[in-house]
Amino acid sequence: MAEPAPAEAAPWTATVLTLFPEMFPGPLGHSLGGKALADGLWALGTVDIRAYARDRHRTVDDTPYGGGAGMVMRPDVVSDAIAAHHAPDSGRRLLYLSPRGRRLGQPLVRELAAGPGVTLVCGRYEGLDQRAIDAWSERGGLEEVSIGDVVLSGGEPAALVLLDAVVRLLPGVTGKTESLDNDSFEDGLLEYPHYTRPRDWDGRPVPDVLISGHHARVAQWRREQAEAITRARRPDLWAAYAESEG
Ligand code: ADE
Repeated sequence: MAEPAPAEAAPWTATVLTLFPEMFPGPLGHSLGGKALADGLWALGTVDIRAYARDRHRTVDDTPYGGGAGMVMRPDVVSDAIAAHHAPDSGRRLLYLSPRGRRLGQPLVRELAAGPGVTLVCGRYEGLDQRAIDAWSERGGLEEVSIGDVVLSGGEPAALVLLDAVVRLLPGVTGKTESLDNDSFEDGLLEYPHYTRPRDWDGRPVPDVLISGHHARVAQWRREQAEAITRARRPDLWAAYAESEG
C-alpha cells in the first residue's frame, strides 16, 4: 500500500510497521471505517519491516541470547524501519503492540483520535529485542500498548483492534455522535440493552417503558439498566463509577 499524503493536507494517519502488510486494511476496509478510508477521512500506510533487512536472506529475526524457544526480532532492522517512517516531531504517537504494554482503554483511544495519527509497530515471534524498545522509548517516546490480557500470535490483530476503535471516533466517521456518547465506557458504565422490532419475539416482549414515549422515563430506565449491568459484570468499573458519582 502507498504511503499517505503529505502532512499539511493529511487526515488522521496511521502508519503500520509489520512483517505482514497484506493483513491491512483487512477488516478496516469494510463497514464504517472502510467507507471513511475510501472517502479520505483517514489514511493508512503500511511498511514492510523486511524491506529493512540487511542481508540477502532478508533476515528479520534470530534466536534469543540465553537460549529458549522462539525467535526475537532484530533491533537494527526494526529500528531502521521506525527511523525511516516515524518523525518524532510529527506529533504522532509511536506505539508498540505488546502483551506487556499499558492496557488499551477508551481514554487512550480518545487521546489518539484527538491527535494527528499514530505509528504502530507490530511484533511477531517472541517480540522485539529489548534494546530497540529502550532506544525508541528514549528517543521517540515509544509506548507499549496491549489490547488485553491475552497473547496473540502477533501485534497485527491488536493494531487492527486499536485502529478500529480510534477510527470510529474520527469526525464524520460515525453518523450520529449521540451514538458515541452512549457507548459503553464513555460515562464509566457498560451500555444499556437495546431492542428493535418485532415488539413481541418468541414470547419475549420489548420492555413497556421503551414504548411509552416518555423520554425522561426511558432515559432513567436506561441508566438504571446500565448501572445494574455494570455492577453485576464489572465490579472494577462499578467501584470507580460509584466513587466518581460521590
Ligand atoms: N501481541 C501479542 N499479544 C498482544 C496483546 N495482547 N496486545 C497487543 N499486542 C499483542
